[in-house]
Amino acid sequence: MYDIIAKKRDGGELSCPEIEWFIKNYTCGNIPDYQASALCMAILLNGMNSEETAVLTAAMRDSGDIVDLSFFEGKTVDKHSTGGVGDKTTLIVAPIVASLGAKVAKMSGRGLGHTGGTIDKLESISGFRTTLEPEEFLKQVKDIGIAVIGQSGNLAPADKKLYALRDVTATVDSIPLIASSIMSKKLAAGTDNIVLDVKVGSGAFMKSLDSAKLLANTMVDIGYNCGRRVAAVITNMDVPLGYAIGNALEVKEAIRVLNGDIDNDLASVCIELAANMIALTFNTEIDTARQNVRDEILSGRAYKKFLQWISSQGGDIKVFDNLEAFGKARFSADVVAQNDGYITKMDAECLGRISVMLGGGRASLEDKIDFTAGIILSRKTGDRVEKGDKIATLYSSSVSDFSKVAEVFCSAVSIDADEPEKLPLIYEVVTR
Ligand code: URA
Repeated sequence: MYDIIAKKRDGGELSCPEIEWFIKNYTCGNIPDYQASALCMAILLNGMNSEETAVLTAAMRDSGDIVDLSFFEGKTVDKHSTGGVGDKTTLIVAPIVASLGAKVAKMSGRGLGHTGGTIDKLESISGFRTTLEPEEFLKQVKDIGIAVIGQSGNLAPADKKLYALRDVTATVDSIPLIASSIMSKKLAAGTDNIVLDVKVGSGAFMKSLDSAKLLANTMVDIGYNCGRRVAAVITNMDVPLGYAIGNALEVKEAIRVLNGDIDNDLASVCIELAANMIALTFNTEIDTARQNVRDEILSGRAYKKFLQWISSQGGDIKVFDNLEAFGKARFSADVVAQNDGYITKMDAECLGRISVMLGGGRASLEDKIDFTAGIILSRKTGDRVEKGDKIATLYSSSVSDFSKVAEVFCSAVSIDADEPEKLPLIYEVVTR
């Protein structure tokens, strides 16, 4: 292990046997975390070429079970985001594409650092079970076309260990490490068609468009070389997606989109992701797929599928009859503009961290989540405000004194005289 670390530290290329040996021995506990983290840091600093990244991905995929979804004859589809703030897209796109006939057999993650996770959002719905036995999971996909669970016991265990290590050793934002982490899980999960949502901007791990494009191309190449159909949609994460950040708050916003509120940034990203999922799965022309996705929302069929999915996994759907009351926090406070002007910047990563401070995420692994906590933005980047206008409301049932959090919020938002340049919401779609 010492020699492998030193080779990468000095900018060398690791051989296939070296990478495979490392993954095998790290997964079974023969290599200590301190040596694995030294190697991760050497990879972060010196990179990996495409061959090394492909070998690392395959070794991580093969570190545990591989799910067989061949029963579904090529109609399975998955979506994975590289991580963002206010990113509740799975709650919206999964029922849409299932309603259109695709099979969504999905494993999702929990919140990580400043980014939220689908599993935490789903657990804000009382009764919802995020763990299903494999037979029950597959039966639900067969019967209703959709099941979403947390990362199961032995799926890409090398990634599970390495990800937790990277989270605490400042080695998350490395293209070969992110690409191999995501693609090893997707390949092990057995889905035929994969749409990747590669986020770029202040709330994403990729801060520049060039690095996001490189990550997108790396993951698409890995998928295609393993016989999967993959598209990567590069989307803006300079500003949180939608207006809600925090678990129950995001579920409510997702429900509003599924009920036809589609004239906004969140719905636009979801329509693009869902359309790419449908285009890959059924060979549909992309414009037709977009129209099909819109029709599925506006007809109410996608929301019906959402309710069927949630209740199949034990969630109490009666709570959605009164959205105001669902997940209502005990305490709240408004944050107002400190001066007149345009909002020129909203540091999305900082807003994600504020949601964690309010109880909406974990500061350490054992922390319990306050599902009611989070932020509702009233204004976003590009909006004109006058001093005293409400920009956001902070919510929590575990924090009642908002003064410190409100101060951090104000430091994350810049208000200036000049209107900012409008950035694209969707930069491009990378495919082969
Ligand atoms: N999401 C993942 O699953 N892995 C990463 O490394 C980053 C985001």
